[in-house]
Amino acid sequence: MKEIVYLKDVRREYRMGQNTVTALDGVSFTIDEGEFVSIMGPSGSGKTTCMNLIGCLDRPTSGLVRIGGQDISRLNDKALAALRSRTLGFVFQQYHLIPSMTALENVMLPLRYQGVEKSLRRELAVEALTRLSLGDRLHHMPHELSGGQNQRAAIARAVASKPRIILADEPTGALDSQTGKTVLSIFSEINASGATVIIVTHDPLVGAQAHRLIKILDGRLA
Ligand SMILES: Nc1ncnc2c1ncn2[C@@H]1O[C@H](COP(=O)(O)OP(=O)(O)O)[C@@H](O)[C@H]1O
Ligand SMILES: [Mg+2]
Repeated sequence: MKEIVYLKDVRREYRMGQNTVTALDGVSFTIDEGEFVSIMGPSGSGKTTCMNLIGCLDRPTSGLVRIGGQDISRLNDKALAALRSRTLGFVFQQYHLIPSMTALENVMLPLRYQGVEKSLRRELAVEALTRLSLGDRLHHMPHELSGGQNQRAAIARAVASKPRIILADEPTGALDSQTGKTVLSIFSEINASGATVIIVTHDPLVGAQAHRLIKILDGRLA
């Protein structure tokens, strides 16, 4: 299988005044294209730090992070942003939809930053929302949608440009268990359609959905 995520001896330290917090302490793993992986560990173990590195939102203090074959420490901010927008789709616990925009506008927005032409933006966004069973909610505002619908709109936004990697941080954390199950099954479908799916979670039920677990504890693989 072809490598899509590669971490080798990764450390990430945060400076806090006089102190240094070591969030990741020598982490190494590989994720191949097409895998469905869950990065699991308790609160404070370093999951979000790990996700930010995989998501090209941050760089390691030391060690190697390679995403889509590219060493992210060698890329400037612009190249990193380009890699991120081409390769990755993000899903967060709190949806992070823009409250003053409709579901359709929310899904179209990142496509604009990716330079997709307007009519195609609309077509891709409608296609993604329809795939997430929100074809009849295109013009609803986030506050007019349920939690599960908001998360499905956020997933539509992540998948609209058909990125190679979908990265989700506690995507069911704000949902009731039944809605959470529905959302998880959507990630399975997205994976079955070819995307690499990486879910970061402390919830064993979420982890059980993945095909492989990467366990992390106190900044190290467990
Ligand atoms: N920006 C930051 N500044 C300082 N410490 C941080 C920062 N982000 C995370 N940490 C610390 O790094 C450790 C790992 O955090 P995090 O990656 O958020 O863990 P998780 O997502 O598993 O809860 C924790 O001890 C946390 O307090
Ligand atoms: Mg976290």
